[in-house]
Amino acid sequence: MSLQRVVLVSALAAGSVVGYSFPDCQSGPLADNAVCDTALDPITRATALVKLFTVPELINNTINTSPGVPRLGLPAYQWWSEALHGVADSPGVNFSTSGEFSYATSFPQPILMGAAFDDELIQSVGSIVGMEGRAFNNYGLAGIDFWTPNINPFKDPRWGRGQETPGEDPHHLAQYVYNLVVGLQGGLDPKPYYQVVSTCKHFAGYDLEDWEGNVRYGFNALITSQDLAEYYLSSFQSCYRDAKVGAAMCSYNAVNGVPSCADTYLLQDILRNFYSFAQDRWITSDCDAVDNIYSPHNYTTTPQQAAADALKAGTDLDCGTFYADWLPIAYNESLITETELRAALIHQYASLIRLGYFDPEEWQPYRAYNWNNVNTPPAQQLAYQAAVEGIVLLKNDGTLPLSNSIKNIALIGPWANATTQMQGNYFGVAPYLISPVMGAMEDGYNVTYVFGTNITSNETSGFAAAVAAAKEADAIIYAGGIDLTVEAEALDRYTITWPGNQLDLIAELQAVAKPLVVVQFGGGQIDDTVLKGNNSVNALVWAGYPGQSGGKAVFDILSGKVAPAGRLPITQYPANYVDEIPMTDMDLRPNVTSPGRTYIWYIGQPIYEFGYGKHYTTFSYKWAQAPACSYNIQDLVAAAKYASYLDNAPFATLAVDVTNTGQVTSDYVSLLFANGTYGTAPYPNKVLVSYARSHSITPGNTTTANLPITLGNLARADTNGNFWLYPGTYELALDTSGVLSANFELTGTAAQLTSFPQNTMTS
Ligand SMILES: *[C@@H]1O[C@H](CO)[C@@H](O)[C@H](O)[C@H]1NC(C)=O
Ligand SMILES: *[C@@H]1O[C@H](CO)[C@@H](O)[C@H](O)[C@H]1NC(C)=O
Ligand SMILES: *[C@@H]1O[C@H](CO)[C@@H](O)[C@H](O)[C@H]1NC(C)=O
Ligand SMILES: *[C@@H]1O[C@H](CO)[C@@H](O)[C@H](O)[C@H]1NC(C)=O
Ligand SMILES: *[C@@H]1O[C@H](CO)[C@@H](O)[C@H](O)[C@H]1NC(C)=O
Ligand SMILES: *[C@@H]1O[C@H](CO)[C@@H](O)[C@H](O)[C@H]1NC(C)=O
Ligand SMILES: *[C@@H]1O[C@H](CO)[C@@H](O)[C@H](O)[C@H]1NC(C)=O
Ligand SMILES: *[C@@H]1O[C@H](CO)[C@@H](O)[C@H](O)[C@H]1NC(C)=O
Ligand SMILES: *[C@@H]1O[C@H](CO)[C@@H](O)[C@H](O)[C@H]1NC(C)=O
Ligand SMILES: *[C@@H]1O[C@H](CO)[C@@H](O)[C@H](O)[C@H]1NC(C)=O
Ligand SMILES: *[C@@H]1O[C@H](CO)[C@@H](O)[C@H](O)[C@H]1NC(C)=O
Ligand SMILES: *[C@@H]1O[C@H](CO)[C@@H](O)[C@H](O)[C@H]1NC(C)=O
Repeated sequence: MSLQRVVLVSALAAGSVVGYSFPDCQSGPLADNAVCDTALDPITRATALVKLFTVPELINNTINTSPGVPRLGLPAYQWWSEALHGVADSPGVNFSTSGEFSYATSFPQPILMGAAFDDELIQSVGSIVGMEGRAFNNYGLAGIDFWTPNINPFKDPRWGRGQETPGEDPHHLAQYVYNLVVGLQGGLDPKPYYQVVSTCKHFAGYDLEDWEGNVRYGFNALITSQDLAEYYLSSFQSCYRDAKVGAAMCSYNAVNGVPSCADTYLLQDILRNFYSFAQDRWITSDCDAVDNIYSPHNYTTTPQQAAADALKAGTDLDCGTFYADWLPIAYNESLITETELRAALIHQYASLIRLGYFDPEEWQPYRAYNWNNVNTPPAQQLAYQAAVEGIVLLKNDGTLPLSNSIKNIALIGPWANATTQMQGNYFGVAPYLISPVMGAMEDGYNVTYVFGTNITSNETSGFAAAVAAAKEADAIIYAGGIDLTVEAEALDRYTITWPGNQLDLIAELQAVAKPLVVVQFGGGQIDDTVLKGNNSVNALVWAGYPGQSGGKAVFDILSGKVAPAGRLPITQYPANYVDEIPMTDMDLRPNVTSPGRTYIWYIGQPIYEFGYGKHYTTFSYKWAQAPACSYNIQDLVAAAKYASYLDNAPFATLAVDVTNTGQVTSDYVSLLFANGTYGTAPYPNKVLVSYARSHSITPGNTTTANLPITLGNLARADTNGNFWLYPGTYELALDTSGVLSANFELTGTAAQLTSFPQNTMTS
């Protein structure tokens, strides 16, 4: 690595922030400081380092573009790198213009990877993204702190950033984020070194961009303790407490009157204390979120008070420059103390110590990663597999897989020749982007491609060419839906119908009376009623934002090379849902005016429900390990007395034998839901308690899906947010239609599993 060292040193000499050289603990000014003493713990080491900083040096290093302390040989560092589904363009990431490090593996958007319901897949994706990120860092082209994942639950179908998340279900999100973070960081709380540090965001209650004048920067989300504990925080608990992620991000919005980045209840009582978020882990603000405390939240009357409130609440780092601009004044006005400033920097540098920042390079296997660790054949295969596993078959009259007699296809629509469109947002440079057109050609089809219409337009001039091509073809594939012109960061939707005149074009294609397959792209769901109910639409597939191999994955499924087994990670609501509940309403439970939210509480009829997905084959099911008839709550809790957290203690591991009774090798996702008469009304419709993906079940063969269930999976939160295991009758049902079910009783008295912190601040 000597050549690399030279490059890094010259980058530092040039004063570039994107240098990422590690401090010199051998012969630099810090060599004799305890920060370089590897026998000490990270907090002791970071404390010794930060003790050397003057107050102006402390303040200058509270922002993401941190200048370091040149007189101490402490390099500049850019804390803000992104990697939502692969190393991504961001202030900390610099793709080379050609050759080595000019690209990185680009996986599907999380919403599609969520649809795979495959925890092992997600952990593998995390490992690869973390490895590629570390390789970029070793060559000065990325930080080692990545502000990913986005795990706010996708509660409202209008949310522009729902595509960045794995979906709407709290248990699924908790599992997904646990596996992703363990993969990214290089293990569960890995010692001695993290591979990279991941950042779970946005804490908390953030799922609105800009809707009817309500802007994320100033929105006050009113959330009950019950909904916080049971829904909005579930994935964060999994990330911060269980996966032990290295960093957290507070969100733009306020929760119950307090902007998240100034909220000691969120950042101290819940995050640091309830979730045991250790002192060698740090908290960043979302970008300009500290500024937003002052305006537009108007939470403080001066900017320096906003900076002080954020620092005192526990926001260690400001993404932006607001801390650098206003903490000097806050300090002069005694709104903050030197101790508070030092604490913030100790958290950050202790985290860098856990990344090996001050340790001998030869001790650290991650420091050996190089270009050979990027874009490896297994990484490319995994990006393809992730797309295949996520794609959901919503409707099929037998037209799919396409029969061998179909050779000439008309491939029509605004997604037909998609390339970067398939990456959604927060993406980097992919090694290649296989469009649907290319995927179809690779599968041997004679393809006629016609754009037809834009995502959002009423221009019909392209229809005639589309219909003409359709008439010449053996089959018509329409590739459309929504994309970033309709849903994106800062862009919520007002309708959940098909945008523009795409349904008009599809209607003209239906009239051609050839086999017609609609492939719907985009992260959010749109109301497919007319396509679902019309026999001249033969099949309907949802492909999300499928990433670098998206077109190949889609056509390998359409042609039958591989079989679909993805499941909708979100509810597809009828179009009028947006008129039934305002986006600003955070309540989940239905009442006389509200239909409720998500499959857990929605009382209306979805077009396609959460968890829905068809196959090319058929299955039969039987219990390999059924639940007992009854369990005593006090016995269950007593058996869990050595568990760190009662909610994570096992209830039982059930198992289901899944037999492929059809003709096509296929994966199968076992989704196990629970419902019952327990707890406080109104009862949830049902909740997902466990899932497992079985791979490549051959015709006639049987695999056993193990379905572990924890006490927390069966518990519900009371109005204070405390989880309880309630006595009552429970029903377990496999799959959305309950293809296999079993009842059991919980006997004894209700047992409290968690004590959710209560918010004593009134605002
Ligand atoms: C802090 O940053 C400001 C602005 O970049 C700079 O002028 C000043 O010299 C820095 N102070 C120290 C002590 O590094
Ligand atoms: C990014 O890398 C290119 C060449 O690899 C270099 O010219 C440029 O200065 C770098 N940008 C930053 C912000 O460091
Ligand atoms: C903050 O004050 C501005 C100016 O008075 C006002 O327009 C805005 O609505 C206020 N924001 C909130 C969240 O109250
Ligand atoms: C802080 O106060 C000192 C002494 O009153 C003054 O010299 C200095 O300019 C002030 N700094 C800021 C940033 O207000
Ligand atoms: C399809 O997209 C690629 C990449 O953007 C472009 O080079 C090509 O010209 C497009 N093909 C057609 C037929 O428009
Ligand atoms: C698509 O939109 C572009 C830009 O608005 C427009 O120039 C083009 O004519 C549209 N194409 C079709 C087929 O509607
Ligand atoms: C098409 O859309 C444009 C812009 O939204 C609008 O001005 C125009 O009236 C529309 N034309 C038709 C025929 O609906
Ligand atoms: C490919 O499709 C076009 C358009 O339908 C057709 O004219 C052509 O004959 C086809 N080629 C082959 C080899 O089938
Ligand atoms: C199916 O769609 C076609 C084209 O839009 C339409 O003419 C027909 O009435 C529809 N049939 C039903 C049953 O909705
Ligand atoms: C019903 O719930 C909504 C929130 O989902 C709330 O705004 C409304 O006040 C509730 N109505 C009644 C009658 O409780
Ligand atoms: C679970 O839900 C199903 C379907 O709504 C219902 O028939 C059944 O009675 C419920 N089971 C229990 C134990 O409440
Ligand atoms: C059937 O499944 C078993 C266990 O999953 C596996 O070992 C075996 O190879 C499979 N048989 C075939 C023919 O695929």
